[in-house]
Amino acid sequence: MTSRLKLICLIYFLFSCFISCKDEGKTRYLIGFSQCTGGDKWRQTMHEEMRRELSFHPDVELLIKDAQGDNKTQKKHIQEFIAAGVDVLIVSPNEAKPVTPEVNDAFNRGIPVIIVDRRTDSKSYTTYIGADNFEIGKAAGEYIAKLLKGKGKVIEVWGLRGSTPAQNRHAGFKNIMNKYPDIEVIAEVEGEWEIETAKSGLLKVLKQHTDTDLVYAHNDMMALAAYQVAENMPSVNSNLKFIGVDALPGPNGGIQFVADNMVDATFLYPTGGEEAIRTAINILEGKVVDKEDMLETIVIDSSNVRVMQLQTSKIINQQKSIQRQQAMLDEQTRLYRIQRFVLWGILAVLVGIVFLGTYILSRLRTKYEAEIRKKETVENYNYSVKEKKQYNNAAETPKVVQENPDNIFLKKLNDIIHENLSDSTLNVAMICKALGMSRIQVYRKVKSLLDCGVNDYIKTVRLDKAKTLLSEKNNLSISEIAYQTGFSSPAYFSTTFKAKYKISPSEVQNKA
Ligand code: FRU
Repeated sequence: MTSRLKLICLIYFLFSCFISCKDEGKTRYLIGFSQCTGGDKWRQTMHEEMRRELSFHPDVELLIKDAQGDNKTQKKHIQEFIAAGVDVLIVSPNEAKPVTPEVNDAFNRGIPVIIVDRRTDSKSYTTYIGADNFEIGKAAGEYIAKLLKGKGKVIEVWGLRGSTPAQNRHAGFKNIMNKYPDIEVIAEVEGEWEIETAKSGLLKVLKQHTDTDLVYAHNDMMALAAYQVAENMPSVNSNLKFIGVDALPGPNGGIQFVADNMVDATFLYPTGGEEAIRTAINILEGKVVDKEDMLETIVIDSSNVRVMQLQTSKIINQQKSIQRQQAMLDEQTRLYRIQRFVLWGILAVLVGIVFLGTYILSRLRTKYEAEIRKKETVENYNYSVKEKKQYNNAAETPKVVQENPDNIFLKKLNDIIHENLSDSTLNVAMICKALGMSRIQVYRKVKSLLDCGVNDYIKTVRLDKAKTLLSEKNNLSISEIAYQTGFSSPAYFSTTFKAKYKISPSEVQNKA
């Protein structure tokens, strides 16, 4: 490959790289979210909120790993996120203790850690986002005390014991209950946040305590479980009340349960999905974030449920409209990207064609110039020999027309070939020796000046001389001319001659 071609290829390569890399300039961030369990509506809402917020940040990617309520799986997920080098780690721990070492590890390695909803056992995190579960427990206690007018029997349905919301919702509730000695917590049921687990525990306990006045469940799904169990148990207190936590909007959410009189009151427990992504973005942008981001809570019962329903359905509709607009925007962006890609592609092809055209043209020009020079060299030689003869007669030396090194080289080369023209064994080695140059030097010089190999050039000189002899009036036969110009056989001479001049030696002779 010539150096010019190499340069063209390099420029073209760099240009193509520039085009293909144009879009890669944007920084991409990866947020890893280790979710304790992903199946229930509350967690799904959290994911939707996260995705909605993320749609405003196309350069940020969110990867969610769902541990399906298993501590070991969650530990593994966090380790995988650390190994992947996530830019921000979000964790909603299944239970506090088991995952604390992994979360601490991530934090100590310098990965910003956002804890959502459930806490770990340590303070090694960047931000905690969630409502205050102790306060929720206290608010529930006060509400219950008021509802029961300070007297009655209560069953408490626990969330997962090892999770901090369950511990704190219990602690806050107990804190208030201590002030009401006439309210008796007659049983605690293990609900583990799940409707079915809560149901199986409640079936036994409610059967034993048919005079229960109220069921306080740590979330709405377990409050619904209590309602459904009691509904099918005629012996149970007909005035039994149910209190839950979460207050999700939409069908099958806590607000609807209150509206349908299945649950008496629920306490809003925001998922924090939107806030988690917003905080992650702030961290990525280098902004300072609060260590504790406490979300607001509110009680929803028959007194405000209609207003809440109106508000939440309005919000849901607005969110749907945002999603539709987002989808349209995504489609527009996709089309724009395709168009830009095609445009750059066309441009790259055009530039490629221009480069290639220039290269081919310059090659053709070099070839053409070499061809002319070859022709001129042979002709000049023949002419100078003729001149030499005349001048010799006049006892004068012919003038050397051009004295540049290339011409001197070509003159020497021609001299050697012409002096040995009848020698069919004349070859490159002999020429090199006569010129006092190496094989490669001679090859390069002939190639650059005449654009052909040394042997090719010898053949050109032989044929040219033969053509001159054939056209002259001399009584030489074709065989004699063939031998004189160094061809090993007349037959080979004739074939080579015809191949070059498209006319046979005899035809040239006849014309002459
Ligand atoms: C959802 C959930 C919610 C509850 C929260 C506590 O998985 O059980 O109902 O408020 O988790 O972490």
